Amino acid sequence: MALHPDPYRAVDRQADPLKMVESLEDRGRTPTQVRLRRRFLAFAGIRPGWKVLEVGSGSGVVCRDVAALVGDSGEVIGVDPSRVFVREARRLARPHGLGSRVRFEVGNGLRLRFRDGTFDATLAVTVLLHVPDADQLLREMIRVTRPGGIVAVQDQDFGTLALDHPDPALTQRLFDGVAKKIYADPWSGRTLPRKLRSLGLESVRLLTDVYQDTAFEPWSRTFLLRRAENAVKWRILSERQAERWLAGIEARAYAKTFLMTLNFYGAVGVKPRERRP
Ligand SMILES: C[S@@+](CC[C@H](N)C(=O)[O-])C[C@H]1O[C@@H](n2cnc3c(N)ncnc32)[C@H](O)[C@@H]1O
Repeated sequence: MALHPDPYRAVDRQADPLKMVESLEDRGRTPTQVRLRRRFLAFAGIRPGWKVLEVGSGSGVVCRDVAALVGDSGEVIGVDPSRVFVREARRLARPHGLGSRVRFEVGNGLRLRFRDGTFDATLAVTVLLHVPDADQLLREMIRVTRPGGIVAVQDQDFGTLALDHPDPALTQRLFDGVAKKIYADPWSGRTLPRKLRSLGLESVRLLTDVYQDTAFEPWSRTFLLRRAENAVKWRILSERQAERWLAGIEARAYAKTFLMTLNFYGAVGVKPRERRP
């Protein structure tokens, strides 16, 4: 069966899943991303002693931060369909000395193995964008959250991707064309608060944050290179156009005028408490 254009839909079937681990870790340590992630986790209001589930835990970047927030008396479980990601997340967590406070297991967010109401909080960070049925994943997260507990989701919105490039028209064609091919809804970030409300969550709050890079960070470089490669593969740009486009980015970086921004939308809702008859 042909592979879907979004590699995150089937990580273990990709040519080099370890490269994807590297890319998630690169993103995870990029200073703006560290700030973005920690602001979102603070906004979600995760408390010491909580039992937290992260759906789509990847290489474990978010779980490692959550483990610090829940402290010794708390517990964090990361679930991911990729065996490679789960194995690497365990390995990468080890040097952090978090012990049994953080665990990773293979699982599908669309069918979680946990009982109703198991967790104080459930999280999905840059995951919904990669799932064909985001509502089903959210329903599962809500099911395993306790009444009064929180469901917190954060996602990029590729309709907000901005790059200062000498050829803005070419840039827009490439960004829109590639995003449309990869994601079911490239503008999904802005839909998150509406989705949480429509699934019955209460007190839904929104934190809009921006990934801002003016230093041409390694993660941005890899991200833009992949976009160009895919644009050629999917015939959105010719090879010459892609080369010219990448040269335009290098020129900005050389002149120290590189600028790329991308909005991240973080939405948090509370699972209603059962009402007494
Ligand atoms: C971009 S990564 C995000 C990883 C991590 N949350 C982070 O922010 O570093 C997307 C993750 O979603 C996972 N994923 C894809 N489909 C999923 C599903 N049906 N259930 C749970 N996770 C899924 C992928 O395996 C991948 O680890």
